[in-house]
Amino acid sequence: MTLQEIAKALVAPRKGILAADESVGTMTKRLDAIKVVSTPENRSLWREIMVTTDGIEVAISGVILFDETLRNPLPNGKMIADILKGKNILSGIKVDKGAYKYNENEETFTLGQDGLTERLEDYKKLGAVFTKWRAVYKVGNNLPSAAAITGNSIGLAEYALLVQKAGLVPIVEPEVLVLKGNHDINKSRQVTEKVLKDVFYWLKQFGIKFDSMLLKPNMVLAGKESKSQATAEEIAQLTVEILRKTVPKEIPGIVFLSGGLTPDEATGYLKKMNEKYKGLPWQLSYSFGRALQQEALRAWSGKSNNIKAAQEVFFVRAKKVSSARNGK
Ligand code: G3H
Repeated sequence: MTLQEIAKALVAPRKGILAADESVGTMTKRLDAIKVVSTPENRSLWREIMVTTDGIEVAISGVILFDETLRNPLPNGKMIADILKGKNILSGIKVDKGAYKYNENEETFTLGQDGLTERLEDYKKLGAVFTKWRAVYKVGNNLPSAAAITGNSIGLAEYALLVQKAGLVPIVEPEVLVLKGNHDINKSRQVTEKVLKDVFYWLKQFGIKFDSMLLKPNMVLAGKESKSQATAEEIAQLTVEILRKTVPKEIPGIVFLSGGLTPDEATGYLKKMNEKYKGLPWQLSYSFGRALQQEALRAWSGKSNNIKAAQEVFFVRAKKVSSARNGK
């Protein structure tokens, strides 16, 4: 498959991406919350439960994995990329090495370019065809700073360049932490628009092929502590409005992160956007982590007796998100 074909397949009708790329630290937090010890076996079992769910391929085009999951066999002895291939699901890999706090405002830039070219070769051999890199931006008084915006944009552009040169599809993820704080939705709109404008400016400077990448942004939302919360209608409107202003039409798809929204909220806002706006130049789809996994993870709670029930819960959510993708 060419890079354009892979990018298009990831946002095929009714389909989107499952982000199961939590680092060991993040996965440990998720398992702590359900009182399961974060051993390599438990982390890998959870991924096995999700990818062996019957029928999941109707809603999932690709899964973003973390290094340890792509490299090691699952508890059932199989390699995850082989299971996914058998279901016609594409394997992806998170290639950044996390956000590094560099100033007193705790702004970050993303690490991971060291040895990236070599790792990409490894990941390709292991079956990955696409990748993800996350940059994080804080919202606040005079935040994000110019340095955080430009530094992260250049990081994303360098990453995308190396990945396309290696023959994989990059997912560019500039995540503005819009839910943290008491700002209103307008502040989120301004910051997200500024960040996306800068990201695409640098992607263009670095000669990134827009038809061979995907964008993974946040939705535009008011901070959790804001007194003026926005309606789904406003969220859909402002999100699509800034995407129209900033995202080139050659990009095949925009795959939203869920960013701490509840599964119903993330699904509802995606549905509203797809219901309200037809004929956009790009597909509006998903690359949810928590919004797809949260309910099933709780249903499982580390007990083998619960696996079947957890898979049912996972499948129900995946189908809801898939319908939202069509505005249903
Ligand atoms: O980088 C973030 C994940 O890939 C998406 O996770 O949907 O829980 O925000 P989330």
